Amino acid sequence: MQFFCEAVPVSSVAEQHGTPTYLYSQAGILENFRRVTQGLRQVPCLFCYSVKANSNLRILRLLREAGAGFDIVSGGELARVRRAGADPARVVFSGVGKTAAEVDAGLEAGILMFNVESAGELELIERCARERGSRQDRPAGISVRVNPNVLAETHPYISTGQTIHKFGVPKEEALELYRRAAASPHLKVRGVACHIGSQILAVEPFLQALDEILSVAGRLHSLDIEVEFLDLGGGFGIRYENEEPLDLDRLTREIEARIRPTPYRLILEPGRSVVGDAGILITRVLYVKRNQSKNFIITDAGMNDLMRPALYRSYHRIVPVKRRDQGTSSVGDKLRADVVGPLCETGDFLAQDREIDDDVQAGDLLAVLTAGAYGYALASNYNSRPRPAEVIVDRDKAELIRSRESVEDLMARETL
Ligand code: LLP
Repeated sequence: MQFFCEAVPVSSVAEQHGTPTYLYSQAGILENFRRVTQGLRQVPCLFCYSVKANSNLRILRLLREAGAGFDIVSGGELARVRRAGADPARVVFSGVGKTAAEVDAGLEAGILMFNVESAGELELIERCARERGSRQDRPAGISVRVNPNVLAETHPYISTGQTIHKFGVPKEEALELYRRAAASPHLKVRGVACHIGSQILAVEPFLQALDEILSVAGRLHSLDIEVEFLDLGGGFGIRYENEEPLDLDRLTREIEARIRPTPYRLILEPGRSVVGDAGILITRVLYVKRNQSKNFIITDAGMNDLMRPALYRSYHRIVPVKRRDQGTSSVGDKLRADVVGPLCETGDFLAQDREIDDDVQAGDLLAVLTAGAYGYALASNYNSRPRPAEVIVDRDKAELIRSRESVEDLMARETL
């Protein structure tokens, strides 16, 4: 028995491209994007794929062709979406620390709007737009990112919508920023934004946040400041283990019920829900090691390749790419082990205390599932380890979309 990605045996990708390798399903990505978008056909909606989840150019191009705009958080991501052919009028720029150079690049490109996260940033955008003078034939589009003070019930590191977090500004301050923006000829108020966190599995926090930004839009209307967009951010949770999945049908119904009577266009910024379960990390077992108190399966992928377990203690299912024919062990026998990488840190694990087939041997291939979002994107070169290759499958065709880094690449910018 063996594991396939669409019509391609995963083992053949490992043979051709080596390990560790990230492998994506094109149909999986497109199907996920369709699922998020199709629910919301009753209201005008712009889907801005959140580039940070997976910024491979091919995946950006695929999503652009499927109709996506983009949510970006840096000049680097802006350059990527432009390379992928994005329409700047469908790009929103989030993030608490935009630099003058990044703001200027956004203005130059003519993006839809900056989601402003502080008074200082609003001043900077105003100044950049003013200084562009005649080169700038249109004002800078802005939204204020409101911090709705909503509890998202997710990992504390990826929860963003409460007053203890660095993100957004409180409602009252937002209104003051809108007054200033509305008075400037260099700024154009376009929307109200928020984003409350990531991997959220409950419907309620999204609705509370939406109600908050709707109320801000209402207050603005009473001040004669009109907005066109309500940007609810991303954060739709997916299933990694046995979580009760987010009820997307209910969420979209409730969103539609609130938006339909209003003049607003909705923006969503999904990242994980588009690419997360459409990608795996293929890794090879180097050693199986039994210490006095524990078993270890040592793989050629480690925390630098997939950071999420080390960073958030997140769970990723791990399955053998091929199951051995019955005979070597009785079916169902399990080994309890930590699946760990080669890096010199105890935090370097892909799984802890995991039950895995007890006939796992050195040389076997394992697939780490649901690794398409924040997998490659968070990879580093720690321990001077080149980052993995990335391959995408379209039916029976596997194509390399980023080659594996070499050690030479790693040293290329250094001098002796
Ligand atoms: N919009 C904004 C402003 C964001 O900050 C984020 C994610 C998103 C949209 C997309 O959220 P998503 O739909 O992907 O949940 N590295 C972490 C996740 C960090 C999320 C940061 N912001 C992880 O691996 O779980």
